Amino acid sequence: MEEDNLADGWFPESVAAGYDAPGGVNAPEAVDPVVDVLEDLADGGPLLEFAVGTGRIAAPLAARGMAVSGIDMSRAMTARITGKPGGDKVEVTIGNMTTTRVDGQFSLVYLVFNTISNVTTQDGQVDVFRNAAAHLRPGGLFLVEVGVPDLRRLPPGQDTVPFRMEPGREGGGYLGFDQYDVATQQFTSNHVTVTADGKGRFWRIPFRYAWPAEMDLMARIAGLSLKHRWAGWDRSPFTAESTTHVSVWQKP
Ligand SMILES: C[S@@+](CC[C@H](N)C(=O)[O-])C[C@H]1O[C@@H](n2cnc3c(N)ncnc32)[C@H](O)[C@@H]1O
Repeated sequence: MEEDNLADGWFPESVAAGYDAPGGVNAPEAVDPVVDVLEDLADGGPLLEFAVGTGRIAAPLAARGMAVSGIDMSRAMTARITGKPGGDKVEVTIGNMTTTRVDGQFSLVYLVFNTISNVTTQDGQVDVFRNAAAHLRPGGLFLVEVGVPDLRRLPPGQDTVPFRMEPGREGGGYLGFDQYDVATQQFTSNHVTVTADGKGRFWRIPFRYAWPAEMDLMARIAGLSLKHRWAGWDRSPFTAESTTHVSVWQKP
């Protein structure tokens, strides 16, 4: 395996190598509903994915004949796009979604799978909205899929919530915990894997959480206004019990 490159941020070769493992978020039943909604919203126009990664979503869109571009900071992740059906048609630019510009005016800019939270400052997240707006044609849409901050699960005096605990088949297993700082809106996802022979790996990824209302304000700063807010890709209504949201803002 190639060595990790620091420029790839939190998604170097060692992460990219396992990112496309079959099942889970890569299964057709997870990918197809996302691609259906994005294709519908783009209405035949070109799409731009911020944080395109390994092309999990962009490649199948391109395979359907849509014009798709993508920005990502990780060469290790984007190197995987061309190997997928449709992937050779995705126009990839290495860069930061807070600032990097690509040519063209897009019908739809989209940023899925919680990745807005990878930008860990408020200024940076506002820049993501501004950069999305700058790529949109008049009437174009910016879509974000992200979890609702899980603070309702945080009892007084506690800063950490478990989000996954899976025993391994032959011993060992996986533990995932999110640790929150409600004063700064920073949180870290903490991942622990232990193999059957007791060897372990512990890694942490920093994030910044924001409520839907704060994102509406970021959108307004960028000159966009809310058009849709769904609880998921099935376009079900967003409610107080929703754990995630798919929000769509429009450029006038
Ligand atoms: C969880 S993956 C999501 C990839 C893809 N969107 C998907 O749904 O499978 C997060 C991706 O975001 C990229 N990323 C994180 N912060 C970024 C930034 N500021 N600018 C560009 N890419 C970024 C990472 O390199 C990684 O490829």
